[in-house]
Amino acid sequence: MKEFDPEDVETRVTDRLVKTAVSPRPIAWVSTAGENGVDNLAPFSSYNYVGSRQPIVTVHTSRREGGDLKDTARNAIDTGEFAVNVVTEATLEAMDRTAEGLPPSESEFDFADVPRAECRSIDPPRVANAAVTMECTLHDSIEIYDRVMLLGDVTYFHVAESVTTDGEIDARKLDTVGRLGGPYYTVSEPMEFEREY
Ligand SMILES: Cc1cc2nc3c(=O)[nH]c(=O)nc-3n(C[C@H](O)[C@H](O)[C@H](O)COP(=O)(O)O)c2cc1C
Repeated sequence: MKEFDPEDVETRVTDRLVKTAVSPRPIAWVSTAGENGVDNLAPFSSYNYVGSRQPIVTVHTSRREGGDLKDTARNAIDTGEFAVNVVTEATLEAMDRTAEGLPPSESEFDFADVPRAECRSIDPPRVANAAVTMECTLHDSIEIYDRVMLLGDVTYFHVAESVTTDGEIDARKLDTVGRLGGPYYTVSEPMEFEREY
C-alpha cells in the first residue's frame, strides 16, 4: 500500500486523494438570487443531505483567491434562499459551463443558455429542465477553515413526471451524473439489490 500523511504532501495531492476516495459525488446545481438583482447558477459536488424527515441538504464552497465568498455562498447568506437542481445526463454540459467564474454582474443562466422557471416558496429561479429541484431556505452557514458550508431546509420539491413511476420518484429513470476525482464524471447504472435486513 502507498501511504500518505497529509502533513507531508502538497495540497494538490490531498485534494486528489480526498476527491477520488469520496466518489462518485452527487452534484448540486445551485441557483441563487443576488441582492444586485442578478441571478446565479453554479455546480458544487461537496454536496449531501443531513436528514430526510425534516429534509436538509448541505453544500460547501471554497473561497475565491483573495478570500472573497463565491457568488453562491454570498447570495445564499445574504438572501437566506437557494435552490438545488439535480444534474442528469441531459443537463451535464450546461452544468459544466456554469462553473465559469463570472463576475456577480453576469448570470450563468444567460451565459450557458439555461432556461429558468419560477420557484414556489423562494425568489431564486430554478433550472426549468432539471428533473428535480429542491427549494431551500438557509438553515445555517458554518465556516470550516477556508470553506463555508450552507445547510438548507428543503421547503418544496419539483419532480418531472418523466422520472416518476406510479407518482413516486424512480431512481432508475433519473440518470444522475456524479463527479469522480480528476477530470471525470460518471453516469448512473442502477443495480437492483435485494437487501436482507
Ligand atoms: C462538477 C463541478 C463541481 C464543483 N464542485 C465545487 C465544490 O464542491 N466547491 C466549490 O467551491 N467549487 C466547486 N466547483 C467550482 C464552482 O462551480 C466554481 O468555482 C463556480 O465559478 C462558482 O460559481 P459562483 O461564484 O457563481 O458561486 C465545481 C465545479 C464543477 C464543474
